[in-house]
Amino acid sequence: MISEIIWTSFVATLLGLLSLGIFIGLILLLRNYMQGGSYNKPTLIDGKIVIITGANAGIGKETAVDLAKRGGKIYIACRNIERGQNALIEIKRRSGSDNIHFLQLDLASMKSIHKFSDEFHQLEDRLDILINNAGVMACPKSFTEDGFEMHMGTNHLGHFLLTNLLLDLLKKPPHSRIVNVASLFHIVGKISKTNFFGEKFYFRWYAYATSKLANILFTRELAKRLQNTGVTANSLHPGAIQSDLLRHVNIVIRIITAPFRWILFKDIPAGAQTQIRLAVDPSLENVTGKYFADCKEATTLFTARNDKTAKWLWEKSEELTGLGINDVLVCE
Ligand SMILES: *[C@@H]1O[C@H](CO)[C@@H](O)[C@H](O)[C@H]1NC(C)=O
Repeated sequence: MISEIIWTSFVATLLGLLSLGIFIGLILLLRNYMQGGSYNKPTLIDGKIVIITGANAGIGKETAVDLAKRGGKIYIACRNIERGQNALIEIKRRSGSDNIHFLQLDLASMKSIHKFSDEFHQLEDRLDILINNAGVMACPKSFTEDGFEMHMGTNHLGHFLLTNLLLDLLKKPPHSRIVNVASLFHIVGKISKTNFFGEKFYFRWYAYATSKLANILFTRELAKRLQNTGVTANSLHPGAIQSDLLRHVNIVIRIITAPFRWILFKDIPAGAQTQIRLAVDPSLENVTGKYFADCKEATTLFTARNDKTAKWLWEKSEELTGLGINDVLVCE
């Protein structure tokens, strides 16, 4: 009788442990799966000149380390000088390369973007890879120095201006690449002529999503305009990543969701893989105007394939950043 009870509880415990083991195993498998593909080719980019915006943290910093290891000459561009200098030290240490440089750039200021471009033109006579990686996510309604809504201003207009100011240098090498970090979140955004800067209504995540939609439409139009120049432009979804971008998310939500994020979100090295591949993979030399996720080509929502909106956005962005006018001034 007693031995039967002991036996039964022994079996029950064993079964319990077994199912717990299976459960943990499945969670680990799921987590591993959610990390997505990675770029494993040992491609070298010796001497290639690279700019990465927002490289002081997260996937930007990770990308800088990776491309520095591959022999690139890396310029990290970020707003905060102290954080930029600290990142520089860390990237040098982790990559073992000394060929990494810091230039200050505030994408929320057109003045700063022009200054950055001028400084870069003094330093280099070509650019091989431009990674537009910096971004703000879900911040409260605020405006850039030039009065642009923060998400649209920083994530799209800042990079729009920067890219256009660097195009002359990008056209110097036979092949060069522009990599724009967008997001799957673009699917809930909308480019609206009447609510472009959230004039009528504003939701933080909606504003973020809209700026990411703008990144993809910008890439599409840019690729079209750069046909036969040797410069390619692609965009990507890095994945849901455990990064500093979550800083604007409520702390309680961050704590509650932490275990789920650990399982379902990519860690930072996994999150950097798609942009690393787009920046260096020789097989993508002629690929342009595309969108990638999990290290391979992916499809966007139809709103991100609307060429009419892409053209409108380009012209609106040109007008807002005063691009045409500045070009004329530089030429004279
Ligand atoms: C890219 O296009 C050029 C010119 O057509 C060609 O020579 C080259 O092999 C292509 N590269 C790849 C990786 O397909």
